[in-house]
Amino acid sequence: MFMFQDTFSSTTGENHDSRHELLGTIHQIAESLGNAIDARDKFTMCHSKHVADLSRCLALKAGFSRSEVEFIHIAGHVHDIGKIGIPDTVLRKTGPLTSREWKLMCTHPVMGAKIVAPVKAMNGSTGICEMILHHHERWDGNGYPLKLKADRIPAGARILALADSLSAMLEDRPYRARLTLSQALAEIQRGAGTQFDPELSVVMLNMLEDAGPGFEMCSLDSLITKIICSRIVGHKNKCSGCIQACTAGIQGG
Ligand SMILES: [Fe+2]
Ligand SMILES: [Fe+2]
Repeated sequence: MFMFQDTFSSTTGENHDSRHELLGTIHQIAESLGNAIDARDKFTMCHSKHVADLSRCLALKAGFSRSEVEFIHIAGHVHDIGKIGIPDTVLRKTGPLTSREWKLMCTHPVMGAKIVAPVKAMNGSTGICEMILHHHERWDGNGYPLKLKADRIPAGARILALADSLSAMLEDRPYRARLTLSQALAEIQRGAGTQFDPELSVVMLNMLEDAGPGFEMCSLDSLITKIICSRIVGHKNKCSGCIQACTAGIQGG
């Protein structure tokens, strides 16, 4: 269903270990860059981490390979790195954006792809650079920057789009309170086949429904913990950096 060249898992022995270590280092750098972006705004304090973790869960649930899942997770951390070039007056504006401001905001995926492009491991067969570039495309072709449609959009970018939207809906913003989980589920259902990949939307809806009752108004962190630790996506392939905090309290749940 989804194709990445499996650069990081196709080798054995010492070579495999060093590639694994390299992937770990790239992940740590990506997480750190994501933290830097999130620190610019108290309302998006953990947004990049949430997108990374939700993307990872969704990719696992959708049956992506171990390497693909890790590349998508890393892309989640840095999906909004291009916002580093957007002025605070636009990024933190609480009212509606003017058309000039909106155009500026829409440059962040291109800017982000350019920022990570010099890192060979991101700008190559891992597809991380492409995922950043296309995370605001829509299934119906009305997204940006390239108005790609349906499966012309890289699969990892379609995952990021769903995780990004869910994270945004479940976080407070200066101009609105967070949605409930039911409201967020309804929005994803409404956007399936227009904004979002319809197949991946079903996977996400199933995953959230499995997280189930009692999580209606919990924090996004708790919801992600529940998804990870209740074996909805399994215990294997955890990302040590990001999942440690989750698993510490609910190991074996
Ligand atoms: Fe974005
Ligand atoms: Fe991570």
